[in-house]
Amino acid sequence: MDVSKTRKDFAVLSREIGGKLPIYFDSACQTLRPRQVTDAIVEYYESYPACAGRSVHKLATEVSLKCDAVRSRVAEFFNAENPTDIAFMKNATEGLNTVIFGSGLKAGDEVVTTDYEHNSVHVPVLEVVRTVGVRHRMVRSAKDGTFDIEAFEKVMSKKVKLVTMCLTSNVTGYTLPAKEIVDIAHSYGAKVLLDAAQAAPSRKVDVKALDVDFMAASAHKMCGPSGVGLLYVRGDLGESISPRIFGGHGVTDTNVASFELLPPPERFETGLQNYSGIVGTGAAIQYISSIGLDEILDHEITLNKRMTRALINSDAVSIMGPSDPNLRGGLFSFNVKALSAHDVAMILDNSKNIMMRSGMHCCHAYFHMRGIEGCARVSVYIYNTREEVDVLTEAVKDLTDKFSAGS
Ligand SMILES: Cc1ncc(COP(=O)(O)O)c(C=O)c1O
Repeated sequence: MDVSKTRKDFAVLSREIGGKLPIYFDSACQTLRPRQVTDAIVEYYESYPACAGRSVHKLATEVSLKCDAVRSRVAEFFNAENPTDIAFMKNATEGLNTVIFGSGLKAGDEVVTTDYEHNSVHVPVLEVVRTVGVRHRMVRSAKDGTFDIEAFEKVMSKKVKLVTMCLTSNVTGYTLPAKEIVDIAHSYGAKVLLDAAQAAPSRKVDVKALDVDFMAASAHKMCGPSGVGLLYVRGDLGESISPRIFGGHGVTDTNVASFELLPPPERFETGLQNYSGIVGTGAAIQYISSIGLDEILDHEITLNKRMTRALINSDAVSIMGPSDPNLRGGLFSFNVKALSAHDVAMILDNSKNIMMRSGMHCCHAYFHMRGIEGCARVSVYIYNTREEVDVLTEAVKDLTDKFSAGS
């Protein structure tokens, strides 16, 4: 992968901030956006700034065709059978909520999750527990941070109607064995919803090969614009999911006391949509596909191995999740003895312009269960270099020398 060529597409990387170039290690929150994506967004506003799927004039037709083309491109990216299996959302959270609330769960039904779900799954599941009387079963991770398939099999029964799991953890970077999980869940008649927000930017999420029923991802973690989520609903299940939002464009007809929903995906796309965002998402998918997901993952793991090698033997640094960087993709989450995660992030931001995330990463329950106050998270992507990683590891070593000695 030609990182120096890639970096030229990201204007912010050559913008001095406080007199220094930024070292952006927060891609698990939002990736940076290449000029190809911002150009596509500007083109929408300058050339065809109309709405799709409603008016019959030429500009509206142009937007409709562009959005249809993006839907097809997204379907191809995830290997969905039909473009209509893909709905545009405002983020992954909306997609996850749509399935968790819309799949008709009833009192006594059971929902299974991991113990490291993002709040975008954890909170809606707790809400269906509270409001519907669903029972939440949680699969505890194995001691080494990997998925415990035996523990999963123990909680499975015919009462489980939905298994909803984080494909790649936003805390540790660990990716669970999705196909095995889907096969076991299906053998009990349960449906599976994968939260692929962290997986989709750098791993092939082949919904057909995985045989998964539902999947949600975020465009803004894949070089795409803010405000676009992607929801996959397997074609035969679309009519069984009721939307979260009702109104214009989601219906075929309404009468004084009745309405009829459109088939998917339109029923999930009520109200005017984020057309510039959808067009930008198409450019983003094209951009990361042209680099290649295998190359992206390989690059992430190469950098992760470098960070791990530099810091794993330090008594003052503890790494979250599996110790093997091959199992952590582009994420290196850690704590430094005697410093809070926020202190680590602030010190490195001030001293080196290193921009990373710190805290509980919307996985509060995961940290509370383990009695940990949070962690600092470095997430690397296509534009990060070995030199940047070395600046980080040297800076962390300095921190441990200064603050952790003798503690
Ligand atoms: C694993 C995971 N799931 C869900 C989300 C929520 O994504 P969005 O902000 O697109 O709703 C995130 C965002 O950080 C995430 O990391």
